[in-house]
Amino acid sequence: MTEPVVDVHLTEEDARRALRGDALVGLTADPKWLPPRWFYDARGSELFERITELPEYYPTRAERAVLEAYAAEIAALTGARTLVELGSGSSEKTRLLLDALRGHGSLETFVPLDVSASALREAAGLIAADYPGLTVHGVVGDFTQHLELLPAAQPRLVAFLGGTIGNLLPTERAKFLGAVRDVLDAGEWLLLGTDLVKDPGVLVAAYDDARGVTAEFNRNVLHVLNRELDGDFPVDDFDHVARWNAEDEWIEMRLRARGETRVRLAALDLDLRFAEGEEMRTEVSAKFRRERVDTELAEAGFALTRWWTDPAGRFAVSLARAED
Ligand code: SAH
Ligand code: AVI
Repeated sequence: MTEPVVDVHLTEEDARRALRGDALVGLTADPKWLPPRWFYDARGSELFERITELPEYYPTRAERAVLEAYAAEIAALTGARTLVELGSGSSEKTRLLLDALRGHGSLETFVPLDVSASALREAAGLIAADYPGLTVHGVVGDFTQHLELLPAAQPRLVAFLGGTIGNLLPTERAKFLGAVRDVLDAGEWLLLGTDLVKDPGVLVAAYDDARGVTAEFNRNVLHVLNRELDGDFPVDDFDHVARWNAEDEWIEMRLRARGETRVRLAALDLDLRFAEGEEMRTEVSAKFRRERVDTELAEAGFALTRWWTDPAGRFAVSLARAED
């Protein structure tokens, strides 16, 4: 077996420094908030994998259905030699793309990139073992910062699956799509998974499952703060909240203090107070309509070439071409 190369563009110290900055900004803001990137330590990545298997959490199954139906067409249209995957996690669904691109005969290199070093290393190792002859070049990095460092045998197909683009705020999304376009040459490709606007009851259930796995995932960010910033959040004193924001068309996950709570983050010399019932936003998960995807891609310099959904119309995968 060829051992996968893993480049570390984000060391543990880099990540801790970034967390300190985000915690200082977000936890001293009113209302308090944190970027969702901090869910994904090793435990958070495992909890996310459990979420993907929940009956209420349809996005993973719906996106897989699209890839099952159209991976061969994606391979034929792109002829990609390099598949880059941003926020790759376990790269499970990505195997459908790897199979199709290998079947097509073009694929040489797979480049998964993720902030979660544990998830990245495990996935890169499993894929290298299962795809002999494929060069697997993993990158521990932040997809909002490290795109220009990606290895590049062209043509490349950059996959951003799972609906993770919805976890970026609109201004972050525009910046991110522009940065992806900047690292590609005209004629290269982006494959984008987006969850779609639908019945709020279905959406809220997907983010507030009966078994409480999503609640554990949400609270995991408090464990991360306690460990990395020497904090004393009483984790079980915060309730999980998932709410549909109809104006912005996104799900918001929040953590709500059950009672008045005082927290110290010793590494920041920061003392916080949560009032009873105070909510801190930990994630947005935007849901899309075709027009918005089309417009945002065009504004970033991509042409939407194909738009596929699962049979129930819950989730879309877009193939977009970098324009001149
Ligand atoms: N693409 C997979 C995993 C989605 S979960 C799927 O479709 O199932 C989101 C993934 O993005 C996690 O693995 C998380 O560690 C990663 N992630 C979150 N923020 C990131 C960032 N800023 N840079 C790189 N990876 C990030
Ligand atoms: C990774 N991302 C697309 C997931 C989502 O659906 O927004 C993260 C998640 N949050 C709660 N459940 C799953």
